[in-house]
Amino acid sequence: MVGLGKVLHSLWIATVFLGLPSTAKPSEATQWPLHNDGYNEAVEWDHYSFQVDSQRIFIFSGEFHYWRIPVPGLWRDILEKIKAAGFTAFSFYSNWAYHAPNNQTLDFSTGAHDITPIFELAKELGFLRNNDTRYTKAWTPYMTEMAKITSRYQVTDGEMAIGFQIENEYGDQWISTSEKIPNNTAIAYMELLEANARKNGVTIPLTANDPNMNSLSWGTDYITGEGNVDIAGVDSYPSCWTCDISQCDSTNGAYVAFQVVDYYDYFQDYQPTLPSFMPEFQGGSYNPWGGPEGGCAEDLNQDFANLFYRWNIGQRITAMSLYMIFGGTNWGAIAAPVTASSYDYSSPISEDRSIGAKYYETKLLALFTRAAKDLTKTDLIGNGTQYTDNTGVRAYELRNPDTNAGFYATFHSNTSTSTNEAFHLKVETSVGKLTVPAHGGVIRLNGHQSKIAVTDFTFGSKTLLYSTAEVLTYAVFDGVPTLTLWVPAGESGEFNIKGAKKGSIKSCEGCSGVKFIKEHGGLTATFTQSYGMSVLEIDSVRVILLDRTYAYKFWVPALTTDPSVPDTENVLVQGPYLVRGANISKSTLAVTGDIVNATTIEVFAPKAVESITWNGKTVKTKRTAYGSLKGSISAPKSVTLPALTSWKAKDSLPERLTTYDDTGAAWVAADHMTTLNPREPTSLPVLYADEYGFHNGIRLWRGYFNGSATGVTLNVQGGTAFGWSAWLNGKLIGSFFGDATDEQANLTLSFSNATVSTSTPNVLLVVHDDTGHDETTGALNPRGILDVDLLGSSSGFTHWRIAGTAGGESNLDPVRGAYNEDGLYAERVGWHLPGFDDSTWESVSDSSSLSFEGATVQFFRTVVSLDLPSDYDISISFVLSTPSSSAITYRSQLFVNGYQYGRFNPYIGNQVEFPVPLGVLNYNGENTISVAVWAQSEEGAAISVDWKVNYVADSSLDASEINDASLRPSWTKERLKYA
Ligand SMILES: *[C@@H]1O[C@H](CO)[C@@H](O)[C@H](O)[C@H]1NC(C)=O
Ligand SMILES: *[C@@H]1O[C@H](CO)[C@@H](O)[C@H](O)[C@H]1NC(C)=O
Ligand SMILES: *[C@@H]1O[C@H](CO)[C@@H](O)[C@H](O)[C@H]1NC(C)=O
Repeated sequence: MVGLGKVLHSLWIATVFLGLPSTAKPSEATQWPLHNDGYNEAVEWDHYSFQVDSQRIFIFSGEFHYWRIPVPGLWRDILEKIKAAGFTAFSFYSNWAYHAPNNQTLDFSTGAHDITPIFELAKELGFLRNNDTRYTKAWTPYMTEMAKITSRYQVTDGEMAIGFQIENEYGDQWISTSEKIPNNTAIAYMELLEANARKNGVTIPLTANDPNMNSLSWGTDYITGEGNVDIAGVDSYPSCWTCDISQCDSTNGAYVAFQVVDYYDYFQDYQPTLPSFMPEFQGGSYNPWGGPEGGCAEDLNQDFANLFYRWNIGQRITAMSLYMIFGGTNWGAIAAPVTASSYDYSSPISEDRSIGAKYYETKLLALFTRAAKDLTKTDLIGNGTQYTDNTGVRAYELRNPDTNAGFYATFHSNTSTSTNEAFHLKVETSVGKLTVPAHGGVIRLNGHQSKIAVTDFTFGSKTLLYSTAEVLTYAVFDGVPTLTLWVPAGESGEFNIKGAKKGSIKSCEGCSGVKFIKEHGGLTATFTQSYGMSVLEIDSVRVILLDRTYAYKFWVPALTTDPSVPDTENVLVQGPYLVRGANISKSTLAVTGDIVNATTIEVFAPKAVESITWNGKTVKTKRTAYGSLKGSISAPKSVTLPALTSWKAKDSLPERLTTYDDTGAAWVAADHMTTLNPREPTSLPVLYADEYGFHNGIRLWRGYFNGSATGVTLNVQGGTAFGWSAWLNGKLIGSFFGDATDEQANLTLSFSNATVSTSTPNVLLVVHDDTGHDETTGALNPRGILDVDLLGSSSGFTHWRIAGTAGGESNLDPVRGAYNEDGLYAERVGWHLPGFDDSTWESVSDSSSLSFEGATVQFFRTVVSLDLPSDYDISISFVLSTPSSSAITYRSQLFVNGYQYGRFNPYIGNQVEFPVPLGVLNYNGENTISVAVWAQSEEGAAISVDWKVNYVADSSLDASEINDASLRPSWTKERLKYA
């Protein structure tokens, strides 16, 4: 959650935003001021919502980090999936260190570093944030470039960027929030960032995100303060941001499952004239090292999405971005937070890019918010159990002051309970007060669920007087609306269409208890819907009734690039796993998307549509009695992967031996006697790795001494879950195996098992890994050896040398990026890269167990060819495991075509499956797969490396276009100098 700056984009290029039908009557309620940032009028905002070109928009957005899926061709996949779920926007942070690996380089052009297709900006914090001139000088080039790129894509010029966040969770505006004493240093820094953005062409509003409603920083309504941004919002993780629940106490108190947080009062009190805006709202939680294998998806599952996102609507929030919508991979140790193994984040779109119940559940609500235009302007009228006839259920009543549309968001009185509650709701409608349902049914909250009932809800030319079933969406074809409602299977619903006279059942697949009652000047319908889809006709209006499973596979592809998707500009599609888009040309509707199993496809579209194609192929269809087109699509063929065999192996720790020559290009003398780091060195020379230009991953230190010594005390720091080992003259003298919480460990190691030479120099090798620098105020905590003391020696160490990533800061592999490689011998000389010649290496006899004896690092390598069909989207994961009864005291790294795509540390736990995307894998050619295995004990190690297909989708994605060979540069012989 740390970064510097992000851009909020409306999801696709919004050249034209159509105005809403003007039903507006000025209300007597408070007249809220309409703001803009003084630089543009395309994006404006008030108490109710954002407005783009004077049209209110419900911003339902999701966050993704492009560098966690460093294959530009696949960004399309993620963005199409976000769009298909009904989101109106997405947002992303950028990563300073990814683009600026050293103080000379600013890379916005190589491979995934070129963000112009999606652009955005932010950064991972590596320094304290203040107006120190050295820091200003450091961030200015990066922020300037991000501002310039953003300035080319602003909604003010008919493009899509609508907001620019210049810092992240930076809540330092006040020295004392209660006494409103300003922090002038922080203010000066924010003003520098603001001025930089404006100077470089950013005209859209600047935004900020207050973590957990605590800092009250940068909001214009709180106090007229210097450094304020245009729109301040709140970041909130009500269900804990980590899968380790014990870490949750600090913000919300002890973790209670499904406990909601009040935001309404905060926005009323501190930001009344701004929209209630959540730049980050919980999409999932990250899984820390040592957390549960596979994450904590069950705590943050589809029920979480159902309840918490509806809760926000009840709190009058009209702009929120899910963090994360796609978490991606913590590949190459590019990590924020660094404590996570995987960054899957229990996101609606999984790390392997698959979608499931959580995505589908989120889609149900996102589609509703996209269709419910009246939701962008509401007042909270009241809340409590008085709205129901069951004390176990409360409602929040929101009402649009212009149209009188009502939204009743219902919840368990205590949201952490999951009882099955039946109730009736007391609503206020244009025909007066009603208690609904009125004809024998009930509304249910069964489990961790919420429902939003509507009153006076406009759909096209018609109005729902009320509906107890949730509105999914509606579309207008040939001037007549088709309304879609859904209920969980087996539940009932009741709705009334104003002015309607008669109803009939056109199709009943799982429906029962359908009745039509003339009342309130319209027609009330009741129904119960079990598994399936039914269609009613009420006057000329089609009403589609779905159970949840059918609603999950119900899509509303837009026929326009307008993010608000006007009701005449979409079609309705039921059946496929994913529908990415649709387009009408003459009488043909072309639908694109993904199929993983054989499926029916049913399309509701204007009458002119007579045939459909699926991913370009004609689908045989029949017209149904109620006017839809129905056909079927067969399943993709299954795909099998070749076994991973023909492994070769070689030792990758020559540095432990006294005969090793450390005078080569890889090595730097570690001889600093002073440091700018605020931690005073407690032994000299300074053995902090960053001092010597090695900022990440595994480092090797060689310390020399002469004469006798009996042991050594070492204090090494590498971040949570790190480990270290030490060898004397080639012999292991001890290891710290690590655990999920220790960032630092000291051990006193005896030399009694090793041989100390009194005649030649002795070499102590210390190898440690690094799970990344700490966040925020811990950013400067050193990595490396904090203290060392040679025991029983009269002279101590004579000198030290260090090696890390080959070339240090020089960024030898700009495509894969500065964080891809650690400092092991194998990595320095490029054994992990495609094209390295391993023909002289020894073959491994047993491919199912890559094993060796002794405490060393062994590198295993194989080359496998693939030839997979390019009209399929195929997702592949590697699976790493320890053969039974083998030691788990080892650390390993997985490399795929040179990309470090996994760290498997079985002693710590927890990630065993590592999804690797197409583009990193070559689906039509050779793949170099390798693992580096660092045995931390004399037992040695054994590891099994396998792979599997996660899913095969017949997809409109073009795999051959994504499979860009330039993302996989080959080995070059210049690598050899880092031996
Ligand atoms: C850039 O980094 C190098 C190596 O750390 C350092 O010597 C140099 O002073 C830095 N230059 C600037 C302008 O900060
Ligand atoms: C940083 O801000 C403080 C407070 O406004 C000010 O006193 C100081 O001079 C500023 N430093 C620089 C380098 O601009
Ligand atoms: C003021 O802001 C600076 C820069 O963010 C920060 O380092 C400092 O701790 C803040 N001071 C107080 C008293 O909060």
